[in-house]
Amino acid sequence: MPGIVIVGAQWGDEGKGKITDLLAERAGMIVRFQGGNNAGHTIVRDGEEFKFHLIPSGILHSDKPCVIGNGVVVDPRILLSELDGLRRRGVDTGNLRISANAHLIMPYHVLLDTAGEMKLGKLSIGTTRRGIGPCYADKALRLGIRVQDLLDEKILRTKIRAALEPKQQALRELSVQRRKLRKEAGEEGDKEGLEQAIEDAPDPRLDLHTMTEEHVSYGHRLEPHIADTARLCWEMLDGGQTVLFEGAQATLLDLDHGTYPFVTSSNPIAGAACVGAGVGPTDIDEVWGVAKAYATRVGAGPFPTELEDAVGRHMLERGHEYGTTTGRERRCGWMDLVALRYAVRLNRMSALTITKLDVLSGIGPLKVAVRYRSREGAILDTFPYHQSILHSAAPEYEELPGFDADISDCRSESDLPPQARAYLDFIANFVDVPIRLVGVGPGREQVVWLKD
Ligand code: IMP
Repeated sequence: MPGIVIVGAQWGDEGKGKITDLLAERAGMIVRFQGGNNAGHTIVRDGEEFKFHLIPSGILHSDKPCVIGNGVVVDPRILLSELDGLRRRGVDTGNLRISANAHLIMPYHVLLDTAGEMKLGKLSIGTTRRGIGPCYADKALRLGIRVQDLLDEKILRTKIRAALEPKQQALRELSVQRRKLRKEAGEEGDKEGLEQAIEDAPDPRLDLHTMTEEHVSYGHRLEPHIADTARLCWEMLDGGQTVLFEGAQATLLDLDHGTYPFVTSSNPIAGAACVGAGVGPTDIDEVWGVAKAYATRVGAGPFPTELEDAVGRHMLERGHEYGTTTGRERRCGWMDLVALRYAVRLNRMSALTITKLDVLSGIGPLKVAVRYRSREGAILDTFPYHQSILHSAAPEYEELPGFDADISDCRSESDLPPQARAYLDFIANFVDVPIRLVGVGPGREQVVWLKD
């Protein structure tokens, strides 16, 4: 079974890190193929909590190469601080390999992300403000700086100079606009003299010389990890070893197939593993989707089954639904099977894992959305492609009996209450994919393997 992709089946934060960590035991190598430090995966090992944003979850398996693929966008400062943090905790990070072709998130990307969101105001996407969108935009514009550029000061300087100029202009315009808006809203007193000069001063992070120097030093530190990672994947796959392709974000945040424009700027779906790691479609043998037993979303955008009541609050609190990256409260709601079936097909999932089933204990009855109804009253069995229809779609639910027992100590299917098993069966039958693994708590041992 050489190639296995792990993808988020909802809006992210499904617990892919934990599943990757578990499956990594049987793999030869773990590769991230998209996204950047907008991700947040938490792994609890022997009671010790590890939080990563950029480094693949596989890093804890120090005997296996752990790869940041070419499709990932890398903020070198964040990467180095994650590496330092792991080393301080005694984790051997010598197994990390970074694609020389991965693009770098530069300081101006982060500034532009924030400025762009502020400019959008009420229409903002609720990005993580990590510079993800602007970095992928530069990649498409062919103005990107790649990891390999860190190793050649002359090229680095030339490329930064070319990329920087339009950013400075855009940021200047945005700052003028912002000041105008603030003035119109009466929020700005008459700033004079020094105060205004400080506001108008060029951001030191945007100085070509400083930025180049800083990045050359990042290059020195990262050099031992930089590699031709596609080739590493081929060697592993051709040798019959399993490669795990670890997705970040999730299907409904996919740039092409998600709830655009409320999406991330990469393709988290399984198909993107080929581009983002440099392998072919026939290298992929299995696709494992990860879904929570309910649904959550961070940031703006449509969420048909969202709950703004006590049940939603229960999910938020019991599930500790606060963003790993930004600390924001996640929006919570019932499991949406219309959306899940869409995700199953889009990724052609071969298996599902359902996480956080324990969070649902004490809620009853349990509801799952099985269709939507449009504003005009039409029944929608499939995930609507038209944004206006999705925005106003009302979910219709099937009610299933809940369970009250604490299931966090269950380790086999027969330990689970019959209502919990019926809930899982309903999901698997509806989306027509077997559930292989169920999460019943944050610990890596708190799982129930089903069937196989
Ligand atoms: P960006 O990826 O920072 O540009 O943010 C775009 C959208 O994706 C926002 O709604 C974010 O909240 C969401 N997003 C990005 N990364 C994650 C993640 O790892 N989990 C959940 N939502 C995410």
